[in-house]
Amino acid sequence: MVVVDDLTTGCRGNLEGANDSHLTFMEMSVSQALRSLGPSEIDEIYHLAAAVGVRLVIDRPIGTIETNVLQTSAVLNFAAEATIPILIASTSEVYGKSTQIPFAEDDDVVYGPPSQSRWAYACSKAIDEHLALAHYQQNDLPVVVVRFFNIVGPRQVGRYGMVLPRFVASALAGAPIEVYGDGRQTRCFCDVRDVVAILPKLLADPTCAGGLFNLGSDQPIEIRALAELVRDALGSRSPIVKVPYDRAYGQGFDDLRHRQPDLTRIRQATGFVAQTGLVQTIRDLAYELDHRSSSSLESTV
Ligand SMILES: NC(=O)c1ccc[n+]([C@@H]2O[C@H](COP(=O)([O-])OP(=O)(O)OC[C@H]3O[C@@H](n4cnc5c(N)ncnc54)[C@H](O)[C@@H]3O)[C@@H](O)[C@H]2O)c1
Repeated sequence: MVVVDDLTTGCRGNLEGANDSHLTFMEMSVSQALRSLGPSEIDEIYHLAAAVGVRLVIDRPIGTIETNVLQTSAVLNFAAEATIPILIASTSEVYGKSTQIPFAEDDDVVYGPPSQSRWAYACSKAIDEHLALAHYQQNDLPVVVVRFFNIVGPRQVGRYGMVLPRFVASALAGAPIEVYGDGRQTRCFCDVRDVVAILPKLLADPTCAGGLFNLGSDQPIEIRALAELVRDALGSRSPIVKVPYDRAYGQGFDDLRHRQPDLTRIRQATGFVAQTGLVQTIRDLAYELDHRSSSSLESTV
């Protein structure tokens, strides 16, 4: 197995525990790696690399757009050369501000204006989807697009804007758990270990080629309830405080009130059922944060 990651937001330690004799790690960008890999050496591709996290997207809009569009374009062209089955990671963000809950794959999407950089992520991922489906249509490339909905789990970090690891790090440190906005917004969280198990199934099934799938949990929780759950699950005494969006992300930040997937399509295709409860995920995330080096813990608070 070849893992390519330029470690812009990733961490080499995340591969701890992987069987090293079966793993080649290339610390470089996707497009650089493709220059030294022959298409005949590769059986299938899981393209997960991207600029991610609300904080990062707002701070670095150029890098977000370029990474998400150019790297995906490069890997799709590479796959098309030798018809290598490829899975492209997309996101629930592509639904934008739609209020039609739950979100189904063929629903219309609603975006804010380009003057708000937070929409760069959604638009760049939507372009990735168009490109992937165009390769299926024009080149018969066996491609599957997966829209992930708030996937969480051990080794995730909070410093780029991911809410659950941010809450867990604060709870462990006894620091205030900061809930942005009124806390009544809802999200559905799904454990990464449930999700990764389903990806090879999607790629192996020829009837899924050219398909677009929501993947995650469809059980919503309010963010203020999530903060309480984290605090209680970890026996923390952290106060829970509300922080206005403007202070967290700057003037005019547009958040989405509710985000919940319609999972009919993925269930029919794979029988997907999320198995891991949220409290288990919180405890495992906390265990990892607690037992990793103090430097990585500090950087997530
Ligand atoms: N976790 C979620 O809730 C979620 C939700 C929606 C979509 N996604 C998508 O799933 C994928 C994985 O996200 P994640 O949550 O595991 O985030 P992550 O930050 O752990 O993974 C992204 C990885 O891509 C690497 N990377 C960035 N630019 C690169 C480049 N040019 N070349 C090589 N590597 C590069 C980063 O270093 C990082 O390790 C992404 O495509 C993301 O958009 C995730």
